[in-house]
Amino acid sequence: MKEVRDKYIDLLMRTILCSMYPDPALAYGSDDNNHRKEGRDWPGIAHSMIGEYRAKNIVDLCKRVIEEEVPGHFLEAGVWRGGTCILMRGILEAYQINDRKVFCADSFEGLPVPDENKYPRDAGDILHTFEQLAVPLETVQENFRQYDLFDEQTVFLKGWFKDTMPTISDETFSIIRLDGDMYGSTMDILNNIYDSVSKGGFIVVDDYALPTCKAAVEDFREQRNICDKIYEIDWTGIWWQKTQ
Ligand SMILES: C[S@@+](CC[C@H](N)C(=O)[O-])C[C@H]1O[C@@H](n2cnc3c(N)ncnc32)[C@H](O)[C@@H]1O
Repeated sequence: MKEVRDKYIDLLMRTILCSMYPDPALAYGSDDNNHRKEGRDWPGIAHSMIGEYRAKNIVDLCKRVIEEEVPGHFLEAGVWRGGTCILMRGILEAYQINDRKVFCADSFEGLPVPDENKYPRDAGDILHTFEQLAVPLETVQENFRQYDLFDEQTVFLKGWFKDTMPTISDETFSIIRLDGDMYGSTMDILNNIYDSVSKGGFIVVDDYALPTCKAAVEDFREQRNICDKIYEIDWTGIWWQKTQ
């Protein structure tokens, strides 16, 4: 049955990425065949924009924490249309695991206006002006329903990370996936949730190619004296395993 389970997960991955059908980009499109695989555009239809390499990475890490019994839920902060969370929920389904949840945290109304006093690195950031990044909660929940994966094993956290992350800091996580692009968004997740990640768990960062996000990761690791090796996924995704 392992083969069928892996085929379900692989098919789910290709479905959230809309790999099998034409899907013109909303923005940042290109004729280069690798462009979508590398998650460089904002897809018109696909339920995730992370591309094949980062999707394969989250599949691998979810399987690892399950098979190595690293305790804790899965969190994605910055879900957009929900595709990556749907993939994580589908992996739990495929392994018939019901004691781990998927937490989906997002404003469901796009990125915040930069708080330049608190986070000067975000000064001038214009990501909050992109309406394409504002996907309502109801749309994301409907996307879960389309995969028959909408149930109480998924927790939707609506609001700004600075407000929602403190409400889940008592939970235990085996994987946290940061996809909030900005310095402040990345820092609000790390400050509130890093200590809730199990030893042996994984921190995945989608936007390391953005100077703001990279600076937040570097500052946080320096402040906390974190020396765990950083692994590159592709041109922008990174992860590390928490060893202490
Ligand atoms: C690039 S998209 C995420 C892409 C998604 N992970 C995928 O699989 O396609 C960034 C998301 O982060 C959310 N976001 C960014 N900063 C946030 C914050 N501080 N609080 C709440 N949501 C935030 C935006 O609303 C948006 O949905």
